[in-house]
Amino acid sequence: MRVSILLWTFGFLLKEAQAWGFKNGIFHNSIWLEQAAGVYHRESRKGRYQLTYKEAKELCKFEGGKLASYKQLEAARQIGFHVCAAGWLFNGRVGYPIVKAGVHCGFGKVGIIDYGYRLNKSERWDSYCYNPNSKECGGVLTDKEKIIQSPGFPEEYQDEQICTWHIRVRLGQKIRLQFLEFDVEDDTSCLADYLEVYDSYDDVSGFAGRYCGDYLPDDIVSTGNVMTLKFLSDASVTAGGFQLKYSAIDASEVPQNHTRYFN
Ligand SMILES: *[C@@H]1O[C@H](CO)[C@@H](O)[C@H](O)[C@H]1NC(C)=O
Ligand SMILES: *[C@@H]1O[C@H](CO)[C@@H](O)[C@H](O)[C@H]1NC(C)=O
Repeated sequence: MRVSILLWTFGFLLKEAQAWGFKNGIFHNSIWLEQAAGVYHRESRKGRYQLTYKEAKELCKFEGGKLASYKQLEAARQIGFHVCAAGWLFNGRVGYPIVKAGVHCGFGKVGIIDYGYRLNKSERWDSYCYNPNSKECGGVLTDKEKIIQSPGFPEEYQDEQICTWHIRVRLGQKIRLQFLEFDVEDDTSCLADYLEVYDSYDDVSGFAGRYCGDYLPDDIVSTGNVMTLKFLSDASVTAGGFQLKYSAIDASEVPQNHTRYFN
């Protein structure tokens, strides 16, 4: 619970404050789920290299997983998982996976850049989590169209979920979200459970709306070819959940009415 409150607070404070993007050719942001073989990278919402071993462990656990082992990280690396940021692994090891050698990252080497088992668990790094069952809840989507739904839909969703979906379609296309069903715990400012939509490749910039309740939101069309959806539920009260469809549309396509645009 403590972690969730922390995540919350930082989410609010820092949403606007930081610029994220590509560093050394690798995408960095607070909660980009680089899912590969169940392994993904996380950094604190305070930014890079802010997690002690204990915090890193709690963060993975909060999302239903645990810290990845060296072997799991290597398995993910084998299928192309490449992140230029050192993170905690199982048992207090620290390292990061490099697929392509580069001058700015990994000392020109390929493989797991291994900082070994840290004696000082108060050091601050990022985190590598392992959660092979998280696929339904979030992920990177590149299909032309797909249905996205809350975990367990059409059953009620569970407490304490955080799901992040990153949608990428072809360059030059836009993404249209059409809400099919929507029922998320209602509360005046949508502070308890909510679905957030970002007109951007992360959950930091391009905030486009936060939704809760059972009013079916209007269609949303992205500005560019990427979009991020984040679903969060707190520790109590759940509801029916949601189902929405995204589809790639050509930028020239005439939009339907009642469609919100962001610029
Ligand atoms: C452990 O690491 C923390 C954070 O880098 C540092 O402040 C602390 O002095 C270190 N402790 C020891 C015993 O080196
Ligand atoms: C869309 O809305 C505009 C005015 O806002 C209206 O003139 C037009 O007829 C509408 N188109 C459709 C297909 O309903």
